[in-house]
Amino acid sequence: MFITVFGQKGGVAKTCSSVHIAACWSHQHKRVVLVDADRNRSATAYGARGLLPCPVVPIEAAAKATRYAEIVITDGQASSNEEEMKNLVEGSDFILLPTTTQSRSIELTVEMAQMINKYKIPYAALLVKVDSRKEAAAENAQELLEGFDIKVLDAQIPLLSAFEYAETEGVTVDQAIDKRGRANPRRMVGWAAYCSACNEIDVLFEEHQKLNQNHLPIGWDFSLIEQRMAA
Ligand SMILES: Nc1ncnc2c1ncn2[C@@H]1O[C@H](COP(=O)(O)OP(=O)(O)OP(=O)(O)O)[C@@H](O)[C@H]1O
Ligand SMILES: [Mg+2]
Repeated sequence: MFITVFGQKGGVAKTCSSVHIAACWSHQHKRVVLVDADRNRSATAYGARGLLPCPVVPIEAAAKATRYAEIVITDGQASSNEEEMKNLVEGSDFILLPTTTQSRSIELTVEMAQMINKYKIPYAALLVKVDSRKEAAAENAQELLEGFDIKVLDAQIPLLSAFEYAETEGVTVDQAIDKRGRANPRRMVGWAAYCSACNEIDVLFEEHQKLNQNHLPIGWDFSLIEQRMAA
């Protein structure tokens, strides 16, 4: 399964989401590779200490590095141009759109969804950085997105300082420790939320596969040249 984590807005937890869904599936003993398609190489920086449970490779090395992978997660970059977006979408089996409750983030997710609709690739929005003190904002964001027929995962990723501590240490949130070296008390809430998101993606992907068997991206033809000549 090829999953691209994508969004045009900066700082909406694309890299954090890529790292965590890659880690959740790795913990389920899946062979996972995280591909860093962002020129800033933030996923590479996150994994630089070698403490993540799966390899992180730059996109230029992805072809060989993903040879034996069951799940390939690509961390996309904000402000991609149209050509880059099209290629990322066509090369995916599923697209995850991390979205915050801010109106600009919602707007950009709606725009992105309209673009992806042309390609018939399944996708879903994931509400991230959800502030537990502002429940109404998350409900409102969900309603707005669903109003545009966008699937929103039930899992919501809470806003937690544990995610920032984890990134600083180069580990996933379940291993986050605070400034005094103590285990962060809310870390497992963040981890469980990403694991639930993975389970939902698994189900959505399987449902889509059943309905769209052998679907190839638009314009790609993998048939033998003899067959193409004869057609
Ligand atoms: N759920 C969360 N709670 C609190 N902080 C978070 C959460 N998720 C991510 N962060 C923090 O928010 C910041 C931005 O996250 P991240 O780098 O994943 O965003 P991005 O969308 O990949 O950004 P860019 O567009 O620059 O690639 C990071 O410091 C990260 O640790
Ligand atoms: Mg990033």
